[in-house]
Amino acid sequence: MKSIQAATYLVHFQEKAYQELSKLVDTSNYSTIFILVDENTFEHCYPKFIQNLATNIRIQVIEIESGEINKNLETCIGVWNAITELGGDRKSLLITLGGGVITDLGGFVASCFKRGIDFVNIPTTLLSMVDASVGGKTGVDLGVLKNQIGLFANPEMVLIDTDYLTTVSEREIKSGTAEIIKYGVTYDVHLFNEIKENKNLNINDLIFRSIEIKNEVVLEDPKEKNIRKILNFGHTLGHAIESFHLDSEDKENLTHGEAIAIGMVCESYMSAKLLGFPSEKVKEVKEVGIYNKTKLLKEDFPAIIELLKHDKKNVNGQVNFVLLNDYENYKLDCKVSEELIVESMKFYNV
Ligand code: GLY
Repeated sequence: MKSIQAATYLVHFQEKAYQELSKLVDTSNYSTIFILVDENTFEHCYPKFIQNLATNIRIQVIEIESGEINKNLETCIGVWNAITELGGDRKSLLITLGGGVITDLGGFVASCFKRGIDFVNIPTTLLSMVDASVGGKTGVDLGVLKNQIGLFANPEMVLIDTDYLTTVSEREIKSGTAEIIKYGVTYDVHLFNEIKENKNLNINDLIFRSIEIKNEVVLEDPKEKNIRKILNFGHTLGHAIESFHLDSEDKENLTHGEAIAIGMVCESYMSAKLLGFPSEKVKEVKEVGIYNKTKLLKEDFPAIIELLKHDKKNVNGQVNFVLLNDYENYKLDCKVSEELIVESMKFYNV
């Protein structure tokens, strides 16, 4: 598979990616290589990874606890302390080996440590392969509020090895599929149709095309002033729903993809009501059915709407949605009444 040229770095695939990583570490004079893992990626991914990294440079592994609940500044402080105690300096390299929490948090930790050290992303979940590891967004949550603290910073390279997907659950694969559907409905309807029809899907091709799309969008609008906002389709309400579940002790957490899949159903419904997005397409988005069957309870709607007020796209307290006129045809910064938001959540439930 050929590599993809992103802004200042390349996304490499499979065996070639390991060769490129070994080349990078050979030629960059790094003092120490820190590898950020969680308990799952340390057990299931690290053994393969380390076998494929040819270097004599000192390697130190730093492990954090998995889960969105740990994607916070406290964990970052733990990692900064560990790097410091292990002798990290400006010529250290941080390799992130994990899902979206590890790549987002690791990129943020690296970008702030001594005003920035190099980092390399090695995503091990479908979601982090097709979305989180590419595009330069790094950061952590603030309480349950998603990705409130962070900065744009690019890795030195991204290494995609789809073998790592054998280490994750079916639920995690579905979570990543939600992001691929997002690329499909907003940017490339063929991709959406392939998932919808579920015929001879080649995961490597789906991943490659998703990264190509994300990269095209990010190259055009790296700081999300315009078209990059389409990558938030389903995320405005989806993030609020995800945060709500994270915050509720009596509710099971949703994966990111499950939450944004619900968000995409609701935001498709809003699109139909406000922009004439065809109702049969709303049905299609709903029928792809990759959200889990969680119902949104009527008594929870006010708390979810309250959480919307913290969305990063808001300006002057006004919530801004990305909606669709049609597939591949979007409208940015749409205002939606509370009544319609509630109606859309009711629509998702039936
Ligand atoms: N995950 C959305 C973006 O990277 O812009």
